[in-house]
Amino acid sequence: MKNDANNNRTILIEQHKRFSESCLWRLQREYFDKSGIDAWVNQVPFYITSNPYIANCYAQIVVRFIRDWTKQHPDAKQHPFYILELGTGSGRFSFYVLKKIRELLQTLGMANISICYVMSDFTKNNIKYYETHPALIPFIEKGLIDFAIFDIETERPISLLRQNILLNPEVLVNPLVTFANYIFDTVSHDAFTVRQGKLYELLLSTSTTEDNLQDNKPKDMEKLSIDFKIHEIKNDYYNDPHLDDILNQYKNTFTESSFLFPIGSIRAIKFLKKISNNKLFIISSDKGYSSIESLNHLGHPSISFHGSFSMMVNFHAIANYFKNCQGDYFLQTPRKGIKTSVFCGHFQLKDMPETSLAIQQYIEGVSAADYFTLHRRVSDSLQEYTLEAIAAHLHFALWDPHIYLKLTNRIVSLVEESDLDTINFIASNMSTLASNYYYMPKSDCVLFEIAVFFHAIKRYEQALQYYLEASKYVGRQFSLFYNMALCQHNLGRIQDALVNFKHSLELDSESKEALEWIVYLEKNTDKPMDKG
Ligand SMILES: C[S@@+](CC[C@H](N)C(=O)[O-])C[C@H]1O[C@@H](n2cnc3c(N)ncnc32)[C@H](O)[C@@H]1O
Repeated sequence: MKNDANNNRTILIEQHKRFSESCLWRLQREYFDKSGIDAWVNQVPFYITSNPYIANCYAQIVVRFIRDWTKQHPDAKQHPFYILELGTGSGRFSFYVLKKIRELLQTLGMANISICYVMSDFTKNNIKYYETHPALIPFIEKGLIDFAIFDIETERPISLLRQNILLNPEVLVNPLVTFANYIFDTVSHDAFTVRQGKLYELLLSTSTTEDNLQDNKPKDMEKLSIDFKIHEIKNDYYNDPHLDDILNQYKNTFTESSFLFPIGSIRAIKFLKKISNNKLFIISSDKGYSSIESLNHLGHPSISFHGSFSMMVNFHAIANYFKNCQGDYFLQTPRKGIKTSVFCGHFQLKDMPETSLAIQQYIEGVSAADYFTLHRRVSDSLQEYTLEAIAAHLHFALWDPHIYLKLTNRIVSLVEESDLDTINFIASNMSTLASNYYYMPKSDCVLFEIAVFFHAIKRYEQALQYYLEASKYVGRQFSLFYNMALCQHNLGRIQDALVNFKHSLELDSESKEALEWIVYLEKNTDKPMDKG
């Protein structure tokens, strides 16, 4: 026990623990369980793995994979393809990817392929959010979505809550397609260091100041201090040749380096291989290392806190695990941001020509990581873009509401001075933008902003339609009724306009404009006013 600069006692929480057995992982789960969907309101970053662009990349690969598989196994068409998402989080990725998979199956004449998208997470709180989500309900009603409470650190059956069946080798006739985004970085790792040809494990000690403890538990994970001690180990640390072989490779290759071993993820993969008879096809995006060179000369692992915490994923180790078990993998050439990797159990990508082509195009080509890097850079300047350039960026981003919401004021302010071709281009893509709306608490409603766009370009009928759609999400708001009344007035629906101006006045009794409209329209019920 020590005192810090503010005379706060430092309390040791645990000492010399194997990293994967640290209390940190339990605290991590408690954080997600307690936060539920609120984890994504301003805390845990998720845009990078939850946008239409990355979803399109995954969908293109999966549909090609299904095509390759059904060509080689004609009977496969008689059975569903299960697509399991691990650590689903907000569900926004699930929505975009499933929508795109369905579109592609339709376009490619594969609508007869039956799919079941399983949204899984360890916390029931997240599942409850998905079950009643307006964007997911149409898919749920068609039987395209099921749910599972699955803690990837605990080997246990995956039970589908709607169909009430277990995912097991009898049910999984076709390969189990699995998406793992920002989850391998969240679950347990072991930590090692190599020094002068010897391999040591890194044992963790965790401490915090006394004022950060409540009921003997840390209140804020960001205030934890961690420390590593080295401890020499033998060659058969995991007692599993597939894993020990990888540790040995690192021992023999690294001059001096510390590295993480994603043991929690690998145990989950072993379980998924077992229930799918080794027919496992994983696509995963995360921050991490994919080449052996990038793992050399690293210092002790650092933990990045952002509400929860995350670690760099050793994709190189996961890939080698698959290779050691007669599987295959594709690791993206290094990018600074996230990396997308593909892993296959007991089949080889060289036998999957369409899948391989799609991987080249959507992972090695302009990947989710490239998209995000470009978007982040461009987003600093978007407020200076012309409408034409904004439209092009929105098109590149596949009409992503998240981006539109940041630009709505700029777009409306540019409408008057912009050319008709650009305006028509944006207008013709508004239904796509609307179809990408995925409600999240405490965020703006893109349907309302689409209505504002149509209002600004004087397409009052369409504006009204979107204001009405938005009302399901935004509830009774002054601006909604007032804007609807303005559109109705412009369409000559004076009585409807009067009703809505009155509603708006109920919501803001000080609005002089609403009152003025009401007084005017009550006197001139058949005469539109020359304003607005
Ligand atoms: C960092 S978030 C990533 C969410 C989402 N995949 C994304 O890319 O935005 C991690 C998610 O995994 C879930 N999670 C954490 N530990 C888990 C575990 N042991 N098993 C399954 N899910 C877990 C959390 O509830 C959370 O939804």
